[in-house]
Amino acid sequence: MDYSQKIAERHWNLPDKGEREAVREQTFIDDIVQKSHIEKELLSNLDGIETVFDGGGGSGRFSILLAKQGCRVTHFDISQPMLDKAAELAQKEGVADRITFVKGALEDLSGFSNRSFDLVMSFDSPISYTWPNQEAVIANLVRICKKRIMLSVSSRLGSLPYLANPLQKNQFILDDNSDDPWVQWCISNVQNMVDGFSFHESACMEMLKTGLLGGQQEIEAYERGESPWPITYAFLPDELEQILRKNGVREIRLAGPGAYARTIPNEILRKIMNDPEQRAAFLDFCHIYDQNPYVCGMGKDNLFAKGIV
Ligand SMILES: C[S@@+](CC[C@H](N)C(=O)[O-])C[C@H]1O[C@@H](n2cnc3c(N)ncnc32)[C@H](O)[C@@H]1O
Repeated sequence: MDYSQKIAERHWNLPDKGEREAVREQTFIDDIVQKSHIEKELLSNLDGIETVFDGGGGSGRFSILLAKQGCRVTHFDISQPMLDKAAELAQKEGVADRITFVKGALEDLSGFSNRSFDLVMSFDSPISYTWPNQEAVIANLVRICKKRIMLSVSSRLGSLPYLANPLQKNQFILDDNSDDPWVQWCISNVQNMVDGFSFHESACMEMLKTGLLGGQQEIEAYERGESPWPITYAFLPDELEQILRKNGVREIRLAGPGAYARTIPNEILRKIMNDPEQRAAFLDFCHIYDQNPYVCGMGKDNLFAKGIV
């Protein structure tokens, strides 16, 4: 069985996962910045786009956005609970008739013919979960694309700071009183995380070299029923660019949503986010700064890429 299927069984298929994913942008500031970046990219690149494929579309935040713009979207995901949540939200937003929901794995796109969709998108790492098939998956996403492709995958350089900073997510909590279990877990585990932390250069070097988050130990722990997450793959910017270029994608631009925000302490980020005027200006500036090729590897978790087919 593919690792992505295993992750789906223990993680994406959890009954409340769709609900939690649907409210992420009310919970963590890095997720707000990332969503805003992708929305800006989508909304400014819709010229000539009628049909869209959303690979690993989750609870539908981008499928629904594009359906509202009049696009016809194929929303594709490995997890039935995610598809159900996306369908419920699409219904609520009045765009269910413009979205086709398809259950499937990105590792098998044989049901879609070449150049079937004007825009092919896959955001927030579904491609990374398909290791060791990630290159073939990207090739197939390009194959079914007619005009534009936009992806975001796990970022190797952007994820490495987690290995030296287990408190990283706390920097992005928007509201300490949120009832989100992850927020509450982050707040109540600060001391445990500090006490349990020690820096392992060899682990950093290994991840820098291989791009693998997880490994044999995690795979074995998964098989024993202890871990929801055996393994995923994080890309380097030049690597992602080369894979896209090899598959014929032109005018490739990368970005690292969150590169600017991660330099700012939580107290200041909250202040900015809680003032609508500053928030809008900040998100506009992040969008520009995070596209700079010299910082794109240092986005918060994700590496974004767009190009023309
Ligand atoms: C972090 S969520 C992102 C959802 C959505 N793209 C977004 O940005 O809101 C990852 C999604 O990818 C889906 N997924 C993971 N592996 C997949 C695979 N191999 N094929 C299709 N979908 C997959 C999961 O079920 C989940 O809904």
